[in-house]
Amino acid sequence: MNLKIALLPGDGIGPEVLAQAVKCLQAVEETFNHTFAYKEAPVGAIAIDKKGTPLPESTLKLCHEADAILFGAIGDPKYDNDPDAKVRPEQGLLQLRKELGLFANIRPVLSHPTLLNKSPLKKEIISGTDFVIYRELTGGIYFGEKKLNEAGTVASDLCEYSEEEISRVAHLAFKAAKGRKKKLTLVDKANVLESSRLWRKVVTRIGESYPEVALDYLFVDNAAMQIILNPTQFDVILTENMFGDILSDEGSVISGSIGLLASASVGDENALFEPIHGSYPQAKGKDIANPIASILSAAMLLEHFGLHEEAMAVKKAVDKSLKKGMVTPDLKSKSQYGTNQVGDFIAHNIVDIEDNFNM
Ligand code: IPM
Ligand code: MN
Repeated sequence: MNLKIALLPGDGIGPEVLAQAVKCLQAVEETFNHTFAYKEAPVGAIAIDKKGTPLPESTLKLCHEADAILFGAIGDPKYDNDPDAKVRPEQGLLQLRKELGLFANIRPVLSHPTLLNKSPLKKEIISGTDFVIYRELTGGIYFGEKKLNEAGTVASDLCEYSEEEISRVAHLAFKAAKGRKKKLTLVDKANVLESSRLWRKVVTRIGESYPEVALDYLFVDNAAMQIILNPTQFDVILTENMFGDILSDEGSVISGSIGLLASASVGDENALFEPIHGSYPQAKGKDIANPIASILSAAMLLEHFGLHEEAMAVKKAVDKSLKKGMVTPDLKSKSQYGTNQVGDFIAHNIVDIEDNFNM
């Protein structure tokens, strides 16, 4: 298969982890006879520094022309504590999601058998966790009208949803549940928010066309508790933009490190793949960041194009690095390896597929 892949390394550890994902994709090309063409473009703080805007026209154009986008990370502390900053790196990612119509963000949360003792949560509680969060990505409070009064003393962000925005992501989530454990949990705050009540109404109605999927509902506060109290009860969690942002970071605690969680952001025409973690500026350039979330995002990319065997080869190579303790310091193994070493090890194991399948 030929694929045009846009590479957006972004800020902080983004370039380092993305480089490992590219190594793995190149190993897949070599092993399975595919041709992927890569083109790189700036986004985020680095784009502000270079071009004065977090999402330059040329970057957006490249993404539109690509079959898929592989994204590193975004954000720079120099903007975080400046409430008067006119442009922010994060706007680059948000605008990209909006412009490309990437309305569904898919975030799998798994407990890996060899990492059960890396999580601060009890083994018995997290063992067997396997759920996926479907987060609405281009609506809600992230994109509603923002206001600040003239005196700068009162501010607001509007949380608005239309039936159409709810229904398109809900259909994807129900379809996913149908192919998994056939359970969908809608997470909302319908006891307080009008927008949540619309979510319930629309999702309940759509649920009628998926009779094989059991639908239940949780308020977000309770969901936050249930995710760490009893995570194995979940299969597919469907939720709005901000709740999904928060709950997916929480979910990463189950896996043992936020450096393991990958995501896919999909729309009707385009798809972007990125780790759920941020730019981790303290680790930038130190060769300590965990590349696995980025590598698993590349596996999701392969999966998206129906390259199941290829995606499986990547996942198996990742498993092997976890099993062998070939991991970065966040996973607190006895021996610790650098970002590049872990990337090399995983890429090598994709090529060595025979060995890999016999492990
Ligand atoms: C994420 C990130 C982004 C978000 C930020 C960087 C804008 O936290 O992808 O989860 O809030 O969506
Ligand atoms: Mn987030």
